[in-house]
Amino acid sequence: MKKTILFIAAVTFALSSCTPAEAETAEEPPRLLHTAFSLTEEDLPELTSGLPEEVAEKITARPEYFLQLIRDISPWSSELTILVNKETGLSSSYIPEDIVALDDYSSSLVLSRGGHRLRALVLPALLAMTEEAAQEGLDLMISSCYRSYDYQEGLYNRYVARDGQEAADRYSARPGMSQHQLGTVIDFGDITNAFADTAPGQWLHENAWRFGFSLSYPRGMESYTGYMWESWHYRYIGRDAAILEREFFSGIQERMLRYLNDKSSLLEAALLP
Ligand code: DAL
Ligand code: ZN
Repeated sequence: MKKTILFIAAVTFALSSCTPAEAETAEEPPRLLHTAFSLTEEDLPELTSGLPEEVAEKITARPEYFLQLIRDISPWSSELTILVNKETGLSSSYIPEDIVALDDYSSSLVLSRGGHRLRALVLPALLAMTEEAAQEGLDLMISSCYRSYDYQEGLYNRYVARDGQEAADRYSARPGMSQHQLGTVIDFGDITNAFADTAPGQWLHENAWRFGFSLSYPRGMESYTGYMWESWHYRYIGRDAAILEREFFSGIQERMLRYLNDKSSLLEAALLP
């Protein structure tokens, strides 16, 4: 009995000696969404602002997985997820440093002609993907890869002369605005949408993401991407980004890259040391 009275007195003293301000600071701080970032639930509105509701909901439902993928991608320092579209381009002097000649790999790749070039960092994934397709009896024919600023300028000007500027802008990027200048893009097959109905076209549509490749201009997205459907144009963005695109951005590369471009500074600033 005596012990109980002493305990109650001690608790009463402890509570009464705790000022309201102290009681506040003693509250649990908001929980981090991921241990690598200083972001909490309170930051979710900012993290998801500007996104369609279904994307925001997916991020809100699995923020830790989302931020894990973001950390692995590191968009603030990665060239693989640079945004290149009709509004955001590359300078005429942008030339990737690790461009290699695909003719040196002609025994492992299926090339439409000689002279194709690509960034070396894409090769491991491209070789693995080509080999797996070959095991299923499919040839992934490479028809266009790296294009310099000057090459794209000549190509675009020829299309404009042939079809007029309005028509050309629907299927060809202006110089400095082509993902091909990144050296991480491959056009497969015959560069027509007949490719979508071929076995290699279907196989790529199903499997390219597993190797880190993403279809840049999907069907029915012209008003959003700026370009007509191109079932042959795949950009290597890396496996983590390809997973992020599938899991959170409904397979729409442009939406994910715009997001990463917009939020890159916010995400980098929130990185914990
Ligand atoms: N055909 C795509 C849009 C390009 O020219 O890069
Ligand atoms: Zn292309």
